[in-house]
Amino acid sequence: MDIQITKTTTPKEKPNLDGIAFGTVFTDHMFLMDYTPEKGWHDARIVPFGPISLHPATTALHYGAEIFEGLKAYRRPDGQVQMFRPIENARRMNSSADRMCLPQIPEEDMLQILNTFVKLEESWVPSEPATSLYLRPFMFGDDEHLGVHTVHHSVFMLIASPVGSYYAEGINPVKIMIEDQDVRAVKGGTGYTKCGGNYAASTRAGERAAQQGYSQVLWLDGVHRKYIEEVGAMNVMFKIDGTVVTPELSGSILPGITRKSCVEVLKDMGIPVEERLLSIDELIDAMETGRLEEAFGCGTAAVISPIGELCYKGKKYPVNGRFSSNNNPTHGKGLSHLDEDAVFFARQAYTDTTKAKKRREKELNRQPTFLHSIYKGLFFQIIQEEKPLIYCFLFVLR
Ligand SMILES: Cc1ncc(COP(=O)(O)O)c(C=O)c1O
Repeated sequence: MDIQITKTTTPKEKPNLDGIAFGTVFTDHMFLMDYTPEKGWHDARIVPFGPISLHPATTALHYGAEIFEGLKAYRRPDGQVQMFRPIENARRMNSSADRMCLPQIPEEDMLQILNTFVKLEESWVPSEPATSLYLRPFMFGDDEHLGVHTVHHSVFMLIASPVGSYYAEGINPVKIMIEDQDVRAVKGGTGYTKCGGNYAASTRAGERAAQQGYSQVLWLDGVHRKYIEEVGAMNVMFKIDGTVVTPELSGSILPGITRKSCVEVLKDMGIPVEERLLSIDELIDAMETGRLEEAFGCGTAAVISPIGELCYKGKKYPVNGRFSSNNNPTHGKGLSHLDEDAVFFARQAYTDTTKAKKRREKELNRQPTFLHSIYKGLFFQIIQEEKPLIYCFLFVLR
C-alpha cells in the first residue's frame, strides 16, 4: 500500500498529561483513505490533523454506519515504541465491518497503516508511568443519498491521542451501578462489534448512574435481565472462591483484547478461569457469603479497573474491601500504587541487573494481590522481548 505523507508545518506543543481528560488532545497528523466498489481502498494519505467536510446526506450521519477500534502504543524503557496486539484490533475491525456491511481492510494493510502512522507520530508517545498513545482507527459509510441501503462508499481514518488514566479515580476502585432497565446489546444484534450506535445507546444508563455517584453501569443480558455481560465499555471479571469467572462471549458481548490477554495470562499463571454464564443472583450470593474476592473491569482505555462497590436495586455491596486503597491490611501501599509498581517492576525485569534481580525477587516474595499479579502479567506482555510469551503478539516498530 502506497501512503502519501504531507507533514504539518505547524507542529503542536506536547501537553503535560497530568489531569488532562482522556482523548481530548490529538497528535499533529491523521490518516485517511477512501473506498469505492470500483477502486477498492485508495488514496491512502497522512495529512495534518484537522476537520473533515461531509455531505449532509452522508450515510453515517443518518443510519449510523460507523465502526471503530481502540489500541495503544507504549514507550518501552529502552525508548522504543510498540503497540499492544494490533493484529487483534485489525481482526475485530473486520468482524465489525462484516456485521455493518462496511468494506474489509486486509490485516497487513491495517498493520502497515498503524506502523507508518505511529512512526510518524513517535514523539507523541509519552514515557511517564501509566501513559500511552491511544490510537483510534474508525470507518464510516459516506454515500451521499438518503435511502436506507448497504454502504457503497466508505472512509477509513486513524487519529491518535496521548493519554493517562481513563477514570478520574485512576487505579482506585470504581463504584458500579447494576443496570436493570436499559440493555447494551442483544444476541443477533451488534453487541460483539465496535459500532458507534452501541455506545450512543449506552450513555443514558451511564448518565443515570453518574447522577447517583457511580462511575459506570454493569450490563445485564437483554433477554432474561439476569446474566452479567459487561461493565461500561469494559469486560468484567470476578474472582469467586479462587476461580476467575468472566461472562462467556455470547454475541452480545464485545470480545475484548484485554479480556483475552487476562484469560491467557491467568491460565498461564495457573489460576482457574471459567468463561460461562454468571447470573446476578450468583454474584450477589457470592458477595453476601464473602466469597467474592475481587472484581474488575478490563479494557484498552482503562486497562484494569478494580470495582469497589456494586449497587443493585438500591442495595449497596462493597467489593474488594480488603484491597481498597484507604483500608488495606494485606497490601501496605494500596491499589493506587499498582500502576507505579507494575511499571517499576517491569523496568527492573527489563534491565535485569543484579540489583534489579534482587528487587524483583523481593517483589515476587511479597504477598501479591491477584490484581497486582495480573497487572504485572500484562506489563510483562508489553515489555518482554528476550523470551516472548506465546500469547504475546508484539509489534515492534523498529
Ligand atoms: C463495550 C466494550 N467492552 C469491552 C471493551 C474492552 O475491549 P478491549 O480490551 O479490546 O479494549 C471495550 C473497549 O474497547 C468496549 O467498548
